[in-house]
Amino acid sequence: MVSIPFYLSRKIEKSCLDCGFCEDHLSCPGIERCIGCGACVDACPNEARVLDEILVERRLVKIKVDGESFEVPERITVLRALELLGYKVSRFPGEGDLSAPCRTGGCWACAIIVDGKLKRSCITPVRNGMSIETRRAEVERLEPLRIVSSFQGHSVGGVGTPYWIKPKGLFSRYIEVACFAHGCILRCPTCQNWNVTYSSRGEPLTPDRAAEIMTLERLRWGVHRMAISGGECTLNRRWLVEYIKKLRGLNRDEHARFHVDTNAVVMAPDYIDELIEVGTTDIGPDVKGLKLETFMRISGLKDRELSVRLLETGWRAVKYLIDECYGKVFIGIGIPYNPKLISLDEIYLIGEKISSWEPYIQVCALDYRPEFRRKDIRRPSYSEMVQVKDTLEEAGLRCVVCQTVKGLIGPGKV
Ligand code: FES
Repeated sequence: MVSIPFYLSRKIEKSCLDCGFCEDHLSCPGIERCIGCGACVDACPNEARVLDEILVERRLVKIKVDGESFEVPERITVLRALELLGYKVSRFPGEGDLSAPCRTGGCWACAIIVDGKLKRSCITPVRNGMSIETRRAEVERLEPLRIVSSFQGHSVGGVGTPYWIKPKGLFSRYIEVACFAHGCILRCPTCQNWNVTYSSRGEPLTPDRAAEIMTLERLRWGVHRMAISGGECTLNRRWLVEYIKKLRGLNRDEHARFHVDTNAVVMAPDYIDELIEVGTTDIGPDVKGLKLETFMRISGLKDRELSVRLLETGWRAVKYLIDECYGKVFIGIGIPYNPKLISLDEIYLIGEKISSWEPYIQVCALDYRPEFRRKDIRRPSYSEMVQVKDTLEEAGLRCVVCQTVKGLIGPGKV
C-alpha cells in the first residue's frame, strides 16, 4: 500500500445538465473507477466536473517499463505512473521523455506501447502485469495514430483559405473538404468545435487511412482543396507530416491544395519547413491576442509559464511564415474579435505588428460567438466587425476580410 495524493473526478450536481457528453464521448472507465486523468473536467461544457486531491491508501500494482520492473499505485494513468517513476513528461510536443499536449485522449501524441499495442498514456489506466515501452525508437516502429473525424464539404473554408474563393455574403457553395483532428493544447472557453476537440472515443486513424478518406471526400464534393483543422492538428507531428505526405501522394494533380488550419502555438520553424516540404500549400495560423492576459483569457489556459511559451511560439511562427514562406505557400492569418475577449486597441496593435512585417498578407477577423463555456457573450454585430476591419486597415493592413453575421466582408470597401 502507498499513501500519496491522488486525484478523483467529482460531479457538481447543480451544474450538470445531463447533456451526456462525458458518458458518450469520453473514453473513461466511469466516475466510480476514476483514474484522475482530468479529461472530463476539461470537456464538460457546463463545468460540472472538478478534480479533488485526496489522500488515500492505494494498493500497488506491478508493471514493466522499458524492460525494468516497478510497483506503482493502482487507479492512476500510465502517464502519472511514468511521472512517479521519474520520467520527464512535457506538455510541449516533442520534448521530455514523453510529451502529452492535449491530455484528453484526442491527439495520440502521448502514445506509448502497452502490451505490444499503441495506447494513449494520458487516459490509459495502469494495470497489474502491464508491460510498457516508452523508448521513441521502439514507439516509432509502429504507425502513428490520431482520432480524426467529420470529413465533409465546407462552404466557408478557414483563415488560410484565399478570400477570392470564399463565398461573399450569405451565398454559399462548397470550396473545400475538411477533417478535424481531436485534442488541443488550449482550453478556449469559446471553442467552436469543443465536441470534436474533447471527444476521445472512436477508432484512431493511421495517416494512410485518413488520406484515403480525405481523397474520396475530395472526389465526392468535387473540390480541390483539402483542409485539416481541429482541435489542433499540429500536436502530433509524426502523424500530420505522414498524413500530408500520403495525401499529396494520392492527389498529384496541379489543382490539389493541402491546407493546414492551426493555432500555431507549437509550430517551430523546422516544423513549418517540414510541412511545406511534404506538400502543404496553404497555412492558416490564428493569433489569439498580443498580450499575455488576452491570450490566457481567449485560450482558457491557467498556466502562465506555458502560456508565455505558446504565445511566443505562435507569434514566432507567424513571423517565420511571413519572412520565409510568403509566396511559397498561401498564408492567411486569423484574428479573433469579441469585445468581452479583446479590445479594439489590441486589435490595432496586432494589425500594426503584422503590417510592419507584410502589409499585403491576408488577415481574417473572426467574430467570436457564444459557444461552449462562454454562452454569456453575444456575437459581435455587423457594424462592430466593420469597425474591426477599419481598425486593422488603419494599422496598415491592406488585405482584411471579416467574418460577420451577414457573411464575409472585404477586402476593400464594404
Ligand atoms: S496527450 Fe494523450 S492523447 Fe493527447
